[in-house]
Amino acid sequence: MNQVLIKTHQLTKRYGQVPVVNQLNLEVKGGEIFGFLGPNGAGKTTTIKMLTGLMEPSEGEAYICGYNITKESTQAKSLLAYVPDQPKLYGKLSAVEFLNLMGALYRIPKDVTRQRSKQLLDMFGLSSRADELLEGYSHGMRQKVVLAGALIHQPKVILLDEPTVGLDPASARLLKDVLQELANQGAAVFVSTHILEIAERMCHRVGILKAGQLIAQGSPEELRQNVGHGGSLEDIFLELTGSHENAELIRSLEGDSQ
Ligand SMILES: Nc1ncnc2c1ncn2[C@@H]1O[C@H](COP(=O)(O)OP(=O)(O)OP(=O)(O)O)[C@@H](O)[C@H]1O
Ligand SMILES: [Mg+2]
Repeated sequence: MNQVLIKTHQLTKRYGQVPVVNQLNLEVKGGEIFGFLGPNGAGKTTTIKMLTGLMEPSEGEAYICGYNITKESTQAKSLLAYVPDQPKLYGKLSAVEFLNLMGALYRIPKDVTRQRSKQLLDMFGLSSRADELLEGYSHGMRQKVVLAGALIHQPKVILLDEPTVGLDPASARLLKDVLQELANQGAAVFVSTHILEIAERMCHRVGILKAGQLIAQGSPEELRQNVGHGGSLEDIFLELTGSHENAELIRSLEGDSQ
């Protein structure tokens, strides 16, 4: 039986009086890819930032491999990797230098870092440009460098915020294969995405967040059966998040313009 590697208990974030993440309870086991879906502003990034320890919860707790991310942050952070929605990097470093820095931060022996960096750069097709400064990289190339950096310490938990934005189809496919491999090796993968097709094909389980609350979770198949009356994940998403009302609005706008 795989262990629970990501757990939240009544996790809440408020700005002023307004909760943007509201009493969230979820669990992700090793070997699982969990898709975190929800409309813009639902609270996905806020949840991920609390799971990484970058943001303090207003209430509740988050655990990474059993360690409380606020109270045992050193242990928790050593086991997780975070791929933010914006690939911010030091422009004056080369890809190799950046990976060396990441290896040093996680206290990995230099020769191990060198070997893993080579493998990761090869895998992401960056080897021929690995000595160039990152400021000259395209958005997608930077995204891949951030991913490589996240994998250098072989994390048990990986949290990715919209990781496919900016990736070409081949790179998005590669990412999917890499995440699948990490899960096969026993890691818990937590990925927010707007691309429902990716969630459908890649995730073992998905959770749908609306206005800071988890309104549904289960395998795409379970959601289809319980909620969607056999429709696609997109239909279910639109139904649950109320976005289908927009279709009416759009139709009425079209009517106005005629
Ligand atoms: N610093 C802040 N101060 C006030 N409100 C904030 C702050 N940061 C985020 N919020 C609000 O929290 C809510 C959730 O934002 P969040 O970025 O977590 O959403 P998201 O689900 O990641 O959206 P998207 O799909 O657009 O990335 C939004 O209403 C946002 O305006
Ligand atoms: Mg976001």
